[in-house]
Amino acid sequence: MLEIRNLQARYGDSQALFGIDIDVKAQGGVALLGRNGAGKSTLLKSLLDAGPQSSGQIRLDGRALDGLSTEARARLGLALVPEDRRIFTTLTVRQNLELAWHAGTPGSARMSVDHVCALFPLLKDLLDRLGYQLSGGQQQLVAVARGLMASPRLLLLDEPAEGLAPKVAQDLARQVGEARHKLGLTVLVAEQSIAYARQCTEYVYLLDSGVLVFQGDWAAFDAQPALKTRYLAV
Ligand SMILES: Nc1ncnc2c1ncn2[C@@H]1O[C@H](COP(=O)(O)OP(=O)(O)O)[C@@H](O)[C@H]1O
Ligand SMILES: [Mg+2]
Repeated sequence: MLEIRNLQARYGDSQALFGIDIDVKAQGGVALLGRNGAGKSTLLKSLLDAGPQSSGQIRLDGRALDGLSTEARARLGLALVPEDRRIFTTLTVRQNLELAWHAGTPGSARMSVDHVCALFPLLKDLLDRLGYQLSGGQQQLVAVARGLMASPRLLLLDEPAEGLAPKVAQDLARQVGEARHKLGLTVLVAEQSIAYARQCTEYVYLLDSGVLVFQGDWAAFDAQPALKTRYLAV
């Protein structure tokens, strides 16, 4: 469903991605691993044309995204849950979710607050809380739920486990995996946490200094333990 070919990205004079090729199959779960500064966020932002200057081909269901605005790409079904989560801290969880709903395209399939609560039951008890009253894990849950409000086809998660206790991160990853299967959603997850990424994906790309250094399924990744020590801070 997503085909990335020869993606280059730069910030001014500094190049961050060098000729990346990535394929994500419909309803697949793909992990983009790499340490800090590897280029994971740059790649996700390039897909939405939100930040870095990029070149190369990006196709969604065969349709080239060149020249399309961030909003137009979102309308085609891309949703990014950014690294910093960007929850409105002075609004309630319900208001945060409703805002995302209003930002969606009228007439297109959008998910109701009840629907996302059915997917993530923990949300129900949080609806009346203000953003600043949430723990990191709860904020991340709201950020993911908010990403789903527009019924995206491809959900891009940028380091969802960052700053979360391992147990909280694992629970969240499991819920994302379940939501994926229930919704037939395609997911691309940028992570440093192998444990998290493994829970909600089948296939791995490993990025280092803007270059892909490995791709394969988790069994192939595990068969090369040197990858972890060399390219991830484990
Ligand atoms: N806004 C920016 N301006 C200039 N350089 C940036 C910017 N954002 C990221 N970079 C650089 O691009 C490279 C990749 O960063 P990033 O995509 O954020 O990595 P990751 O998400 O894997 O930690 C790094 O060298 C980083 O310093
Ligand atoms: Mg990042």
